Amino acid sequence: MTDPLLTVDDLVVEYPGKGFRAQPFRALKGVSLDIRPGETVGLVGESGSGKTTLGRAVLGLAPVSGGSISYDGRDISHLNRRQRRDLASEIQVVFQDPYSSLNPNLTIEQILAEPLTARGVAGKEAKGRVRDLLDAVGLPSDARSRLPREFSGGQRQRIAIARALALDPKLIVCDEPVSALDLSTQARVLDLFIDIQERTGVAYLFITHDLAVVRHISHRVAVMYRGEIVESGDGDQVTSAPAHPYTQRLFMAAPIPDPDKQEQRRRERREFLASLSSKEKRHDRPHPRPDPRRRPPRAASREADARAEGRPRPGGRLLDHRPAAAHRPARDDAVGRPRGRPRPAMG
Ligand SMILES: Nc1ncnc2c1ncn2[C@@H]1O[C@H](COP(=O)(O)OP(=O)(O)O)[C@@H](O)[C@H]1O
Ligand SMILES: [Mg+2]
Repeated sequence: MTDPLLTVDDLVVEYPGKGFRAQPFRALKGVSLDIRPGETVGLVGESGSGKTTLGRAVLGLAPVSGGSISYDGRDISHLNRRQRRDLASEIQVVFQDPYSSLNPNLTIEQILAEPLTARGVAGKEAKGRVRDLLDAVGLPSDARSRLPREFSGGQRQRIAIARALALDPKLIVCDEPVSALDLSTQARVLDLFIDIQERTGVAYLFITHDLAVVRHISHRVAVMYRGEIVESGDGDQVTSAPAHPYTQRLFMAAPIPDPDKQEQRRRERREFLASLSSKEKRHDRPHPRPDPRRRPPRAASREADARAEGRPRPGGRLLDHRPAAAHRPARDDAVGRPRGRPRPAMG
């Protein structure tokens, strides 16, 4: 069985409390998960459950106060800035907002060549590589000389994906990468993620609150609830026969395109809710009110976040180690054209 590429083990992340003697806020409470080479692990959960925090911890952008994150067998929870920079050729990121994640003053060629020249790739070679990257994400090569504002949201997200691919990473943290796109664009960009994975063998930590998306793209799924992973396992199993009450509610609440199935799902949901004991209901209830510590929206641009990557950190561990199944059935309720997710080759 292949060793995991990423192992998050009992990870705790605490944000400092605001004000005098404020208690720190524990956003991740002992999270464990692993991701194997070439695999997509979907991370789902309601807003505020800690998904982004986990992704940022893997990228060294969240304060790790317990547990560990290992990449390729090496602990990366507390790297310094330079070590973190070196890791950029291994672990990359695609953020949600294609409007704020690209520098508006740079041409597409400059955006894509930047990570290459920073690693000493010569100008001419970098140019050739930029053409290949644009080709890989389905953009014409004359996109090179244009600015981000000349592109649609979906095209910008393709550019962000090309940038993430520039250094041939083995893992990409994708934080809601299609959530800002309209539905048909979502489907095409998701298929691009899958095609790229099939061609390059890159692994994804794929964060989303959208259950149709997670069904479509994931080999395995982890469900986050209030800073903990409450359920994880094979994608089909978790999405079609969830074991944890929170997951059951989450997935039963997901909209389904087919009206008959939808009606059936509604009925199941009603029956399920009626069957819950009051204790489970209490445990299961989402946050009663917004967390006052939550950052104001748009507080920090993601570019600024990425630049300010001062603090390295990470961790949690999840997912069982069952060997990957040989194939997975196509999903007819997924976004876009139905397709199966072949398992990554195990060796
Ligand atoms: N920089 C921060 N400082 C303090 N609290 C934060 C910070 N970032 C996130 N949080 C809090 O951590 C919790 C998890 O947030 P987040 O990881 O963004 O959740 P999700 O991505 O699942 O919506 C939320 O309660 C949020 O308010
Ligand atoms: Mg988030």
